Amino acid sequence: MQTMECIRERRSVRNYKPDPIPEDIIKEIIEAATHAPSSGNVQDWEFIVVKNPETKMKVAAAAWEQNFIVSAPVVLVVCSDLDRISAAYGSRGETLYSIQNTSAAIQNILLAAWEKEVGSCWIGAFNENKIRDTLVLPSNVRPLAIITLGYPAEVSKKPRRRDVKEVLHMERWE
Ligand SMILES: Cc1cc2nc3c(=O)[nH]c(=O)nc-3n(C[C@H](O)[C@H](O)[C@H](O)COP(=O)(O)O)c2cc1C
Repeated sequence: MQTMECIRERRSVRNYKPDPIPEDIIKEIIEAATHAPSSGNVQDWEFIVVKNPETKMKVAAAAWEQNFIVSAPVVLVVCSDLDRISAAYGSRGETLYSIQNTSAAIQNILLAAWEKEVGSCWIGAFNENKIRDTLVLPSNVRPLAIITLGYPAEVSKKPRRRDVKEVLHMERWE
């Protein structure tokens, strides 16, 4: 699949078939994440794979009962190691680059998954402390996103995008 086709066609998928995702495909999807750019190549990202149904239920509860999480065969929790990023970039690293670096990694995950016909959804609405407790995260590791992965049972229509004309500013704002 061509890059632009993958970018245009990718959808958030919230309805999954129960079929498991082969380990090598999961590994390749995570590998895609590790090729993302990061500030100073610090690579502060950490990925936790959750397949255990009870743990998935706890993750869904932490995500304000977004129960489709439980039906995804694989749930990835994307974290930043704040010690690693702040050692390089201080508070800007901790408050901004950690989010930017993991977001770049996440986008690679979504696109690599789509190319392999694996649906995904980026979930940002969750209680960080509950995720911390569930996954026994050390205090320097901040959970920044939950990504569900699974073969799509249903793909919804593409939500409207703002047109390029609407968002593009040439040379200055007006
Ligand atoms: C930072 C962020 C947080 C999001 N949080 C959630 C979420 O908590 N639950 C959810 O179902 N989708 C979530 N999404 C997915 C968006 O709803 C989705 O990307 C958007 O509606 C566009 O649809 P598309 O991904 O199919 O193009 C999130 C996406 C981003 C980038």
